[in-house]
This record gives sequence, structure tokens and C-alpha cells, in this order.
Amino acid sequence: MAPVLSAQSHARTEAIRSAKGGEPVVCLTAYTYPVAKLLDPHVDLLLVGDSVAMVLHGHENTLGATMDMMILHGQAVMRGVRNACVVVDMPAGSYEDSAEQALACAKRIFEETHCHAVKLEGGTEMADRIAAIVKAGIPVMGHIGLQPQSVEKEGGYKIKGRTDESAAKLLADARAVEQAGAFSVVIEGTIEPLAAEITRILSIPTIGIGASAACDGQVLVIDDAIGLTIDRVPKFVKEYADLRNEIAKAAMSYAAEVRARAFPTADHVFRKQTPKG
Ligand code: KIV
Repeated sequence: MAPVLSAQSHARTEAIRSAKGGEPVVCLTAYTYPVAKLLDPHVDLLLVGDSVAMVLHGHENTLGATMDMMILHGQAVMRGVRNACVVVDMPAGSYEDSAEQALACAKRIFEETHCHAVKLEGGTEMADRIAAIVKAGIPVMGHIGLQPQSVEKEGGYKIKGRTDESAAKLLADARAVEQAGAFSVVIEGTIEPLAAEITRILSIPTIGIGASAACDGQVLVIDDAIGLTIDRVPKFVKEYADLRNEIAKAAMSYAAEVRARAFPTADHVFRKQTPKG
């Protein structure tokens, strides 16, 4: 199959790949045009994560994400981005069946959003899917450790690497993802020393979330980072703003002014045009 890689996606994913061992790669999720536009000047990579299903659509977990949802949000984010590398998540059910299914869905995401890469969850058992997508010219970011799409299969969100068996599996996953041709890999919910060790071993950048400061980069869900998460905030999150409070304060002020007929004022209404001079 002829490669479909655009020069731009190659340049942006190679810039991330070449950051290995250098200045940390700054990543956040983004799902909408305005947020992508606000974040673009400050980050290296924007991830249109399948967390969108929970964060914006109120699903219980990321299994609620669909291809159409990822493509719609991928398109919105791409309209707001000038510099960052944009990676769109492949939703659950779009790549597990076979390498052919994975390639067809990756191509649809790539072609309909014009993003720079796709991301999928899984290690050794997904290596052939990663290899098929990369061979077709679409850059892939791996995702190992805690894999949120496996929440039902695993009966919850389980931190990885706590036993020798779990650590050995994770090391094998990391090597498999690298060998399959991924340009970088997210390590999620993994004990700190193991995430640091994987970072030392791999030649591609590791992007940590609930992992280690030694990773080559860090990613957070944007709504977690700006204090917009309504339900439980995970332990690995640091809130850099308190938008929950800001939104509540704005809504209270607006409601009070509307009820008191203090808004709109003369500044916010239109009148007949008055002749000049
Ligand atoms: O969907 C997502 O937001 C992610 C990050 C947590 C890495 O996969």
C-alpha cells in the first residue's frame, strides 16, 4: 500500500521523536477548537483523547467514545492548531479485531481529521496493528501500563508494575510497541521506578501520566489540569486553575444581575442610528 504520510505529520511526529532524552515534551488533551487554540502556543503535543467521552459527553468511561466522536473532535482541534503535533485516539472497538480493521479505522481518522498521528492502547498483543498502520505511513503513538479501555475487562483501573509478573509484561509491551514502529508511547498508571526504567531502555520518548517525572514528557487531561473535573480527581492530577469555582462565580453574578435587571445595560443594547454632526 502506498504511504499516505503528509510532510507535515512526518515533521511534527519526528520533532517529538527527536525530543528523546532532551527537554521534556509538554502534552495536554484538547477536544474543542477554542481550547486547542489557547493551548497550541504552550504545548508540543495535543491529544484528542478518547477521554472526551467522559469529559465532554458524560460517559462513565472511555468505552463510550466512537469513531464519529473522535473524528468530529479531531477536526475541531485541527482548526485551532498551528504548531503542536496533534494525535487522535483510536476508540475501543476500532482496532482490536485485526490489523486490517486497525488500518482501515486509522486511515479514516487520519484522512478525515488531517491529524498528525493516531494513538492506540496495548503492547505485545497490539504490535501487529501498530506495525500495519505505521507501514501505511500513519504515525502511531503507543499506550501501555494502565489502559482505560480495559476497565471493564480488568474490573477497575489497576496500577501496573506492582508484581514481578506485571513488570515483566510491561517491559515486553514497551519493547513491542517500539519495535512495531511507534514514534512515542504513553505510560499510564505505572509504578514510578518501572516507568523510569522503561524510559531509560526505550529509544522513543515516553509520555507519562501517573508514571514518573523521569519520563520524556508528561500528559494530563485538560479539564483535570484546569480544575473543571466535576467528579473524582485522580491522585496523579495537579490542578493548575480552579475553573469550577470561576464558572460558578460567573453564573451566580450573571443570575443576580438578570434577576435585578442590572444586565443588560445601555452598553449591551442597540438603538436607532443617530445622524452624525
Ligand atoms: O484519552 C486520554 O485522555 C488519554 C490520556 C489520559 C493519555 O489517553
